[in-house]
Amino acid sequence: MAKNNPFSPTFGTSPPALAGRDAILEDLDEAFETGPSHPDYTVLFIGIRGTGKTVMLNAAEDMVRKRGWLVVAEQGNPSGLIERLRDGAARLLAEFDSEPSRRVSGLQADGVGIAFEHRSSSQGPQDLRSILGSLGDRLAQTGSGLLITVDELHAADVGEVRELGGILQHVTRREGRPIAFAGAALPYIEDELLQGQLATFLQRCSRYDIGPLDAAATRNALEIPMSRSAATIEDHALGRAVEAANGYPFMVQLIGFYTWKAVHDPAAGINDADFTVGINRAESRIGRLVIAPTWNELSNTDRRFLAAMTEDTGDSTLDAIAQRMGVSTNYAHVYRRRLERAGMIVTTARNTVAFGYPTARAWVSQRTVQVPPQ
Ligand SMILES: Nc1ncnc2c1ncn2[C@@H]1O[C@H](COP(=O)(O)OP(=O)(O)OP(=O)(O)O)[C@@H](O)[C@H]1O
Ligand SMILES: [Mg+2]
Repeated sequence: MAKNNPFSPTFGTSPPALAGRDAILEDLDEAFETGPSHPDYTVLFIGIRGTGKTVMLNAAEDMVRKRGWLVVAEQGNPSGLIERLRDGAARLLAEFDSEPSRRVSGLQADGVGIAFEHRSSSQGPQDLRSILGSLGDRLAQTGSGLLITVDELHAADVGEVRELGGILQHVTRREGRPIAFAGAALPYIEDELLQGQLATFLQRCSRYDIGPLDAAATRNALEIPMSRSAATIEDHALGRAVEAANGYPFMVQLIGFYTWKAVHDPAAGINDADFTVGINRAESRIGRLVIAPTWNELSNTDRRFLAAMTEDTGDSTLDAIAQRMGVSTNYAHVYRRRLERAGMIVTTARNTVAFGYPTARAWVSQRTVQVPPQ
């Protein structure tokens, strides 16, 4: 077994090669360079489980840290988001005011930064909006900024997300402070949040669909980390791995990880047999890690919907699914939304859906489900 496996089939862990997201990263870099007037200064990353949303938040955080910015990173747990953001921002404000080096390094030639000397955060404002206002002012004077990231935004309390939106609308958009925002969420957030009148801020965030990788990016994601230590990589087998991953980033990492594990000596190269082991193990792992837990939460009707999809070889139309299930298309729409929310399916065109995860069709086909109820 080869040592030092470069792949990372773990949620939230940045991959050895972040493939296929260059255009998004370039937009973000340009936005951070330009400032609050740039449309991508506040962004949402949207995608099903395992497509790389958290990894994109990590990348955005790394990007701003390199610019000397500060970061507040939070998770959208069901409650306490605003409070945790306030605590995080307050800590940074206090550090900013107490750390001479930061003040000194922030001093500008015209001496504007000296104004920090007689500001004390201990007497300062307490609510998130005021804290961000004060922090934003200090950072603006040093030519730096703050990035707020919120992962799993869909899990946060809707009222709190709206409150955060209102605050950022004010401090960033209206008052132009250097406080950028990046959120990550599952696609169903659009139903719940973006349609609400109060969520104007989120509606105006730039939206990036963190979707499947194309074949070239998938190949890079596998090949680049392997080629750092392997002498040769069997090209046809690599092509099979690219096909099996079907553009799904988590699957890319699983295949890479188990293929690498099967390699005895990287100096002798990675061959067809190694990839076969890797693909097989990855396929069984994705079933257990991603598909089975979701399946277990589904109702019998949800499962019948998915079983009806297995009759197609490609995408399925809602009309065909409804017909197979013996229900109306409107009824099928309700279940489409539920399954989309669970990440099991994605809408590919109007009234057309596909499985969200690779191997899901084969996995569901192996389950016994009566499509029309008995
Ligand atoms: N662009 C990419 N290229 C290669 N691998 C990637 C890429 N993006 C993500 N990955 C890998 O995919 C896996 C899932 O990434 P991540 O945890 O960011 O997904 P996620 O969308 O946040 O999932 P969830 O919704 O479950 O939190 C990780 O193993 C990560 O290393
Ligand atoms: Mg995540």
